[in-house]
Amino acid sequence: MNTQHLKKSFSSYFNSESEIIVRAPGRVNLIGEHTDYNDGFVLPMAIDRAVWLALRPRDDRIVRIFSLDLEVDSAFELNSLTKGSDWIEYPKSIAYELEKAGYKLRGFDAVMTGDVPRGAGLSSSAAVELAIARAFAATSGIEWNAPKMAKFSQKAENEWVGVKCGIMDQMASAACKEGHALFLDCRSLEIQHVPLPVGISIVVLDTSTRRGLVDSAYNERRNQCEEAARWFGVKALRDVSLEEFNKRSKDELNQLAVKRARHIVSENTRVLEAMEAMKAGDVKKLGELFNASHDSLRDDFEVTNDALNTMVECAREQTHCYGARMTGAGFGGCAVALVNEENAAEFVEAISAVYRQRSNMEAAVYVCKPSAGASLMYE
Ligand code: GLA
Repeated sequence: MNTQHLKKSFSSYFNSESEIIVRAPGRVNLIGEHTDYNDGFVLPMAIDRAVWLALRPRDDRIVRIFSLDLEVDSAFELNSLTKGSDWIEYPKSIAYELEKAGYKLRGFDAVMTGDVPRGAGLSSSAAVELAIARAFAATSGIEWNAPKMAKFSQKAENEWVGVKCGIMDQMASAACKEGHALFLDCRSLEIQHVPLPVGISIVVLDTSTRRGLVDSAYNERRNQCEEAARWFGVKALRDVSLEEFNKRSKDELNQLAVKRARHIVSENTRVLEAMEAMKAGDVKKLGELFNASHDSLRDDFEVTNDALNTMVECAREQTHCYGARMTGAGFGGCAVALVNEENAAEFVEAISAVYRQRSNMEAAVYVCKPSAGASLMYE
């Protein structure tokens, strides 16, 4: 990202110089899908694609943001936050949550831009939320506490925007460390920064399919998981071990709930194994876990689509790929592949061609670097 361009845009739009630049990244989840709202484990990584804001504090309580990408300007007044239905709802929702928590916010003028593809499952909305939270922290003298800000942002999305997401995306955008993936226990919010094994590339494969109605399918999965947890007599499926799951007869539980639960229980185990494999530099094992995760999301959790399954097959056929899986909520969007670093360029070319041939669609392919969470560029 060229911050000079952002600063120039600010000065030409607002006729004054910006004082602060903040950024917050998108993320790709390496493994641990749909486990966050089951109090389970996840292993995402912040990517080198982000939302950026150049800003200047104001003396009043007005927030005015010019979106460079949408070429529109929008503003709100911190004293009278009312709901609308536009992109500005994300910034507004953060303001609402912070004010509700007792912070007295100061207004600002900002120019915003980003390169996280929207609707692709790479958490472009979490990136906007955390960039705005980082901006308010900088302008209003709030100490930056990544997990706390992630929780405010999740609450903002749940309650103001109305999407019942878990905590993974916001925590990844807030708390990741460069060169590392983030192991997160979604119940305790305990984190561990796990270094990426040397010699591998994380390649994000956008199928270019997007599915509407994701929210209703997502909420339906949540309900099925809760139904299974009730049946097992636990607070969340996190509390059921794989051994216990296999041992117990499940004839009396609705068979769809059995499948959903099997995914969650086995996926939690895979995340723990993946973390160990990463620590041991065992890329082969990590690849196998990627593959098993996808198969479980396809057969038991049923959140893949044809394009994702085709993409994953195409990736797995490539000699230098250790494993591949869908990533994010599913129903469209991206897959992620683990590829030998030396052969990443070759892989990108091959997969683009094979996917085009097999699906008649164009993939967007990104070789991603593990990046830092939300940060202040300068003051
Ligand atoms: C979306 C949600 C996350 C998580 C994933 C699936 O990205 O925002 O909280 O549930 O789906 O793992």
